[in-house]
Amino acid sequence: MAFPDTRLRRLRQSEALRSLVRETRLSPESFVYPLFICPGEGVRKPIGSMPGVFNLSVDEAVKEAREAFALGVKALILFGLPETKDETATGAWADDGIVQRAARALKSEVPGMLLIGDVCLCEYMSHGHCGIVQKKTSAKGATQEYEILNDPTLEILARTAVSQAKAGIDIVAPSDMMDGRVAAIRKGLDAAEFENTPILAYAAKFASGYYGPFREAADSAPQFGDRRSYQMDPANFREAMHEIALDVEEGADMIMVKPALPYLDVIAAARDSFDLPLAAYQVSGEYAMIEAAARNGWIERERVILESLTSIRRAGASIILTYYAKEVAKLLG
Ligand code: PBG
Ligand code: ZN
Repeated sequence: MAFPDTRLRRLRQSEALRSLVRETRLSPESFVYPLFICPGEGVRKPIGSMPGVFNLSVDEAVKEAREAFALGVKALILFGLPETKDETATGAWADDGIVQRAARALKSEVPGMLLIGDVCLCEYMSHGHCGIVQKKTSAKGATQEYEILNDPTLEILARTAVSQAKAGIDIVAPSDMMDGRVAAIRKGLDAAEFENTPILAYAAKFASGYYGPFREAADSAPQFGDRRSYQMDPANFREAMHEIALDVEEGADMIMVKPALPYLDVIAAARDSFDLPLAAYQVSGEYAMIEAAARNGWIERERVILESLTSIRRAGASIILTYYAKEVAKLLG
């Protein structure tokens, strides 16, 4: 039936009618709230390129977590800013590492909160790369070449995951993009009797310009080169499906696509092809763009926040990592 029998505007006449037929809804339970944990006490340091986001000392993180939990946000993902960095990422797997300390405090102070540990090395490496770096001086001695070593990195990643689980992290989320990390982490966890700790794999993680503000927040910008030899080429869709399939095969319990809004096609296809819970990360640059445009009066802030999150959900993500988690939980409440 076509016009005039069919009139789609019939169902758009009032907010009550529109909300009755709405296909996609947001709910705070599906949000994961990222926190950046830093040393000290009483620290709440603003991040220039992410207005409204802070580096939080452990005690401040506990306060933030309590507020988020009260609003219905039941999961956090933790990133750490260690006191010192080195070339073996000691701070990532140390018993008293910053994320480990935060996990212990959060577990005891906000017991119902699900804690996800971002498993990567860049925040803890003096060079800012996600894996072990081998430097090579070229024949002429001029240009310094370097290589990110895959297999030696796996062991450190597994050690980091085990250390996080010991500290009370409920779910480990490798974001490094080394080949074979999911299997290595699964093996490490099982050997340490953490066979019930799930892995949320950043399965399709693209080498993205949208991570810029995060690198200010986590102090994790690479000191030389870039991440293109391990993170994915933004142009590659089929390779993303391949990456996800491999992570599933290696034992991932949940998968993630990152960034979110520029990769809705990948999210939608992942939803179609895989039956695991699917997460998407609305990354720092996505956040920063909305904040910057809103500050200029160029967009309606809340409307665009809700529209962007709704789009990510409509594409098929059931879990959304977003810096807006707490605020949107309040808006929805
Ligand atoms: C660490 C990591 C990054 C992000 C999450 N985990 C940065 C990167 O890969 O450079 C980005 C998150 C964001 O931009 O909000 N590997
Ligand atoms: Zn990293």
